[in-house]
Amino acid sequence: MSEQITRATVIIDPLTFQRQCLAWQRQGERVGMVPTMGALHEGHLSLVRVCRRHCDRVVVSIFVNPSQFGPGEDFERYPRTLESDVAALDTVGVDAVLAPAPIDMYGPGFSTVVQPAHVAQTLEGQFRPSHYQGVTTVVAKLLNLARADVAVFGQKDYQQLAVIRQMVRELNMPTEILMGETCRESDGLAMSSRNRYLTAEERKRALAISRALFACRDRVRRGERDARELATNLMQELIDGGLDSIDYAVIADGQTLASLDQVGAGAVALVAGHVGKTRLIDNVLLDHAS
Ligand code: PAF
Repeated sequence: MSEQITRATVIIDPLTFQRQCLAWQRQGERVGMVPTMGALHEGHLSLVRVCRRHCDRVVVSIFVNPSQFGPGEDFERYPRTLESDVAALDTVGVDAVLAPAPIDMYGPGFSTVVQPAHVAQTLEGQFRPSHYQGVTTVVAKLLNLARADVAVFGQKDYQQLAVIRQMVRELNMPTEILMGETCRESDGLAMSSRNRYLTAEERKRALAISRALFACRDRVRRGERDARELATNLMQELIDGGLDSIDYAVIADGQTLASLDQVGAGAVALVAGHVGKTRLIDNVLLDHAS
């Protein structure tokens, strides 16, 4: 099936972008948003395709959000590749791209924050304490700017999805949140803008993450339900696979992200670890019915 190709208009000014989205909605069109930080890969393009199936207009934001990076993280070196990002979006058809500078999003004196729910405190929250507050604040702004009917986020940051779903529900935001499945390279590595930091040798070792997660899912499919046993195996395979350090390797409830004793419906296995200087995250759903 051929895809509809539209050349994206790149808009720097958030209020101009908001006016454009409002004009579409006044014509009765549904607006869908895919928030990104750029350095786009096939995973992002697949989110755009999901969004297109639910909306008349698809808008993408490209904004490396300073408030979600902690001290010593990769904010400065995070890849900024606007020109090639827009070219990639033109291959799938996007109606507008919002690409503001930090000063356009956070004017002088900006001080409002959206405090994320409890689910933000575990896992990533233990290692990146202010990260999800930065995410909820910017995502609330982006969804308000687009007045989005629908927004699509990747499964790869599963916790982010849980945090955003809860924010939208509890703040009565009228946006439907959809999950786009994780896109993987042919050898299993989850696509990530940060994969470009890996050397060839590190990339080989990074494969331990998807390998360990797939092995965990296979065990569940074969009938293993002891989540502690599964988490122990997961951790051991990451160590054996040569990760330099492991922040967590857990079997958790899909909504609360609390660690489980027994695998039940909606359980998920989540991993975060370092290969060289690069921190990678990945997860698989452990739906033992599938
Ligand atoms: O997932 C990301 O790329 C970012 O966290 C997001 C949702 C675009 C907010 O900056």
